[in-house]
Amino acid sequence: MDRARLRAEALAVIRGNDRGDYSIPTAGLYPFQWNWDSALTALGMATYDLPRAWREVETLAAAQRPDGMVPHIVFWQEDPGYFPSHAAWGTAGDPPASGITQPPVLASVVLALAQRGGAEGRRRAAALAKPLLAWHRWFHTLREPAGDGLVALTHPWESGRDNSPDWDRPLAAVEVPADLPAYQRRDLDHVDADARPTRGQYDRFMALVAHGRACGWRQEEIVASAPFLVCDPGVQFILLRADRDLLEILALREGGGGAEAAEVEGWIERGEAACARLWSEEAGGYCARDLKRGELTAAACSNASMLAWYAGIRDEEKMARLAATAAALLDEAPCGMPSWDPRAAGYDAKRYWRGPAWAIMNHMIAQGMREQGEEELARRLAQAQGRLYAAGFREYYEPRSGAGLGGGAFSWTAAVFLLWDSEELF
Ligand code: SER
Repeated sequence: MDRARLRAEALAVIRGNDRGDYSIPTAGLYPFQWNWDSALTALGMATYDLPRAWREVETLAAAQRPDGMVPHIVFWQEDPGYFPSHAAWGTAGDPPASGITQPPVLASVVLALAQRGGAEGRRRAAALAKPLLAWHRWFHTLREPAGDGLVALTHPWESGRDNSPDWDRPLAAVEVPADLPAYQRRDLDHVDADARPTRGQYDRFMALVAHGRACGWRQEEIVASAPFLVCDPGVQFILLRADRDLLEILALREGGGGAEAAEVEGWIERGEAACARLWSEEAGGYCARDLKRGELTAAACSNASMLAWYAGIRDEEKMARLAATAAALLDEAPCGMPSWDPRAAGYDAKRYWRGPAWAIMNHMIAQGMREQGEEELARRLAQAQGRLYAAGFREYYEPRSGAGLGGGAFSWTAAVFLLWDSEELF
C-alpha cells in the first residue's frame, strides 16, 4: 500500500465533496447531505481539521425535525440529478429533507470528536446533547411499536442497506399501488444497473414514500399502518452503541447526566435485552425481524449482524458462535466482511448490499471486535481493508476480488482510510 499517495488522494476526495459546512457522499450519484455518510465522514475530517469535523456534525443536527427525527437526506441546495427529489418526498419543514431517518451513528461520532480533547470539544459535544437526546427519544418512543426495545424501520433506506436480502420477504408483501406516479431513476445514470437495486425494489421503495406522504409524514400514522415494519440488526446495534455514547456525552454537561441519564440507561437495558430476539441458531448470528409478522426475515448473516461487538453485546455463547460465523465469512470473502453470506441464497457479489464489502462497515465491525478482545478477527479485517483500498475510494467492493463498485471518490471510504492510517490500524 502506497500510504502517502492514498493519503493525498483521500484528502482530495473529501475536499472535493466538501460543500462548506457539510459534505456530500459523492458528486453525481448522491449530491446532498446524507445522514450517516456525513457523520462518519467527520471522523476522517477530524484527523486533519477538527473544527471542520465539528461543523459537519453540527450542520446535520441543525436539520433535526420538530419531532426529534434527524432526516436521512438534507437538501441544502437543489440538484436535478438525484431522484427522489425533495418535491417527490413532499415533506414540510426547513431545511428541506426526506421523510425518513438513517442509522443513528451521530452520538458516537460526537463522542469520538470530543475524545480528541480540549474544553472546546467538550463544550461542543455538550451543546449537542439536547438534539441527540431528542433523536434517540424519537426512536425509543415513536419507533418502538411494542415498547419492548426492538426498534422499527418503515423503509429499507432507513437501514442504509437498501436492497439487502434481509428485506426481500417483507418488501415482497408491499403492494405497489396502481396509481404510483411514474418516475425516472437517476442512479442508473451513474452506476451500472447490475450493481444497483432492481426495478421491482425501486417500485416498492417509492410505494413506501407514497405511504409516508399519504400519512402527512406523521410518525404515529406511518407506523400504525406501515406496509413495511422491520427491526434491522444494524440500526438496533448502532442505536444501542449510540445510547451508551450519549450517556457519556450527558456526563460532559455542567451538572452531569441527571434524570435524562436514567432515561438513557432504561433505553440501553431494554434495547440490549431485545437483541436476543434477533438471534438465529440457523444463521449463527443476529438477523432482521419482521415486526408485522413476528418472524426473522431470513436465516443468514449480513455485515450488520457483525455490529454486535460494536454494540457491546455480552452474551458469551452467542458471541462465540458469531465469531465462528464471522471467520467463515472472511474465509469466503478476503476483501472485507461481505454484506451478505456468500454461501446463502440471495448473495450477489456486485449488487450493492447483497454481497459487496463496505469499508465503513469493516471499520465499525473491526472497532467493536478490538474493543471486545476479538483481536484475530480484527486483524483479518484490517488485512481485508488494506486489500480493498488498492482499488481506490469506491462506494463498495466485490468481496472476493476487491474490485471497486458503485460510486467513485466516496467520502466515507476516504474518511475511514484517513482514520485507520492516522491510528496505524492497517
Ligand atoms: N441509498 C439510497 C439511494 O440509493 C437512498 O438513501 O438513493
